Amino acid sequence: MSPAELLAKVAQFDALIVRSGTKVTRGVLEAGRGRLRVVGRAGVGIDNVDLQAATEAGCLVVNAPTANTVAAAEHGIALLACMARNVSQADAALKAGKWQRAKYVGVSLVGKTLAIMGFGKVGSEVARRAKGLGMHVIAHDPYAPADKARAIGAELVSFEEAIAKADFISLHMPLTPATSKVFNDESFGKMKTGVRIVNVARGGVIDEDALVRALDSGKVAQAALDVFTVEPPAKDSKLVLHENVTVTPHLGASTVEAQEGVAIEIAEAVGGALRGELAATA
Ligand code: MLT
Repeated sequence: MSPAELLAKVAQFDALIVRSGTKVTRGVLEAGRGRLRVVGRAGVGIDNVDLQAATEAGCLVVNAPTANTVAAAEHGIALLACMARNVSQADAALKAGKWQRAKYVGVSLVGKTLAIMGFGKVGSEVARRAKGLGMHVIAHDPYAPADKARAIGAELVSFEEAIAKADFISLHMPLTPATSKVFNDESFGKMKTGVRIVNVARGGVIDEDALVRALDSGKVAQAALDVFTVEPPAKDSKLVLHENVTVTPHLGASTVEAQEGVAIEIAEAVGGALRGELAATA
């Protein structure tokens, strides 16, 4: 549905289930007043739902917090490996008839320090997999218990220490007012020269103009991005078109298995909420 169609139809329903493309704005919630009782987000991030307006409208917001965890973690690892070995650039070059073995010498993952920013469900699964690749894993998350990290063989450190020590940085934090553009000129400046960054979390945690500057200067050697501040990004986005950037169109949760799991998980959550079995919002 277009935003206008959603506004026109939402009042006919008790529940609304959305993925990431639909914005559940104050306008949508107000248009649903009187009938709409639950908004289900078929995925983890609820940044596309106006939570304040939902609360004011007496509307519960539920998400599907677990079913796509492994898919997102696997995509993070896929981007990490693709980026380190220039897979997407070399693929495009070879399809254009260029056999450029010297140009696409990569870097190894084994023995490198990976900083995981946000050590929740996805971050910790990325950590497990990175340990299997022989990486030294450090993590930053103000809410994660140290023993959970220790059990995986990761060390919890401060934000400053994580970004200063990392050869690779993988982002797994939610987009909140506190994390918005937390990767900016200042934080890029504190990273090692030649750092490589993966983002399968939310585009808004990075100041994208600052990332372009950091890529241009060589401070950041490469980035692999599945998410963008505005999705889809502009066709002429300097970031998307940058030769040292690998991009995918928000595919983190897009596996057959994860989508089936998410569909079941959100249907159960919305059903539970409609039956009055849930007391808390997501
Ligand atoms: C999520 O929040 O679950 C993922 O980013 C996937 C999605 O938005 O569909």
